[in-house]
Amino acid sequence: MLVIVWWLVTVVMVAAHSASGVVELYWEVENQFWSPDCAEGSTGFVITINGTFPGPTINAVAGDTVIIHVKNKLFTEGVVIHWHGIRQNGTPWSDGAAGLTQCPINPGETFTYNFTVDKAGTHFYHGHYGMQRSAGLYGMMVVTSPKETLHSDGEFNLLLSDWWHQSSTFQELSLSSKPMRWIGEPQSLLINGRGQFNCSQAWYFNEGGLKECKFKKEDHCAPTILRVKPNSVYRLRIASTTSLASLNLAVEGHQLEVIEADGNYVTPFTVKDIDIYSGETYSVLLRTHNPSPPRKYWISVGVRGRKPNTTQALTVLHYAGASESGRLPSPPPVTPIWNDYKRSKTFSKKIFAAKGYPPPPEKSNKQLFLLNTQNLMEGYTKWAINNLSLSVPPTPYIGSIRYGLPLEYLNFPGPDIIENYDINKPPVNPNTTVSSGIYKLPTGIVVDVILQNANVLNVEVSEVHPWHLHGHDFWILGYGEEKFRPGVDDKKYNLINPPLRNTVPLYPYGWTALRFVTDNPGVWFFHCHIEPHLHMGMGVVFAEGVDQIVKMNIPREALGCGLTGEMFMNQGRH
Ligand code: C2O
Ligand code: CU
Repeated sequence: MLVIVWWLVTVVMVAAHSASGVVELYWEVENQFWSPDCAEGSTGFVITINGTFPGPTINAVAGDTVIIHVKNKLFTEGVVIHWHGIRQNGTPWSDGAAGLTQCPINPGETFTYNFTVDKAGTHFYHGHYGMQRSAGLYGMMVVTSPKETLHSDGEFNLLLSDWWHQSSTFQELSLSSKPMRWIGEPQSLLINGRGQFNCSQAWYFNEGGLKECKFKKEDHCAPTILRVKPNSVYRLRIASTTSLASLNLAVEGHQLEVIEADGNYVTPFTVKDIDIYSGETYSVLLRTHNPSPPRKYWISVGVRGRKPNTTQALTVLHYAGASESGRLPSPPPVTPIWNDYKRSKTFSKKIFAAKGYPPPPEKSNKQLFLLNTQNLMEGYTKWAINNLSLSVPPTPYIGSIRYGLPLEYLNFPGPDIIENYDINKPPVNPNTTVSSGIYKLPTGIVVDVILQNANVLNVEVSEVHPWHLHGHDFWILGYGEEKFRPGVDDKKYNLINPPLRNTVPLYPYGWTALRFVTDNPGVWFFHCHIEPHLHMGMGVVFAEGVDQIVKMNIPREALGCGLTGEMFMNQGRH
């Protein structure tokens, strides 16, 4: 314990020193037949990178330049890749958000992402065009630093996701239909792209009456086993790129010490299991004991936050010397009940910045109130923020701003947007407007965002929304129940050691407040990380430092579509 505290203080205090290596990768993105959960008779496919699913793990050192040449080999769809957790300071056009920072890469074409990874952390990457994340376009990204003097005997990456048997195109169409056809709960949960459909590895404990999973070692669905030695410390890097599911992860017979969240160190705390929402990452330390004889323990991942209809994902912590084929002696950990939000909040509220992080600025210059509602627009189901459902235009915002093309800017809504709204009832007027308007933020100011949750279209339902911000880390100042009360709730903000993160849950019928500094000119997405919700409009866009963007040297290859594409073509003709 002492060692770890000392380590945390050192890594935080020592300024990042640039190692300036270069990581250069050539990627080909294509569809391939693949069955991540070995569902019988399934002819499903996933989006692979260089023939693998999930995509290759990117390993880099803080200070490195990462250059990735992405070739689109999908036959009929565009593609982009977003580097989730990387702030893209000075390279907003490499953020990989279609319609915001670049055009989708056309089939057959290559786009080069080029950015710096400025600090150590656990991150991931994923498709950010249509619902390609649901189609399996994702992978891990781990940034280490020589300054990290933490001793661990080994590391494991656990990339968590959820899987549907219907294709993502089918899902997109279903969600955009009138009336909307809900995609339902996932068929399987995946750990490192591997799951088992409608069966259990722990079937002999009569787990939910499920039958035995049958897979061969070489199958796509065969779980990755975590092989460990006794009396050792392992770092598990856990990331959730689920489309829908909020998850809970537990390791039977072991405690987990949380040390990092979203690429920032936290004050270490020990728990029996962790909640993880889509878009979040954690590092936890797992200390092995010395079971004699050596044995195996379950690692379980189950659904929380929505009524589950998906089997737990299981894999095994395998102590050296334990039998390769024998059964595990005890049943897997039970996932805590899905709607025990009190428990979920207790976990969220355990997370504080590690010692050594400077506190946030004491005051903010701007407050942005974002009311989250579900709406019905001419028979279409939408999610809306302040009654506007986001629709991203064909010309990337960053291009429109750079070249002075027409664009609609929104006004900052005051607290009355929340004051006059009954968050405990379905919307009185469920109508919404589809909008491509964005919020303008000057550079060098402190912005507070207050996310306010509400009841959905059906009575007595409010959902969890994990909100993710591109281009920044933010401080989580507080969570609260019911309606946010200006002048009361803001007095109770944690301004001493709030955690720095890039993703935060908004709990049912409650609010979440966060703060960030506009120190990174660019066009940044802020959205619910639940893929279907984003698809139905649940996001806003920040244009930060417009006066800087107009001077930016944006590579033309990023803007070869819409009005910017047309403009370049006309220039070419002169
Ligand atoms: Cu990982 Cu815009 O998201
Ligand atoms: Cu949502």
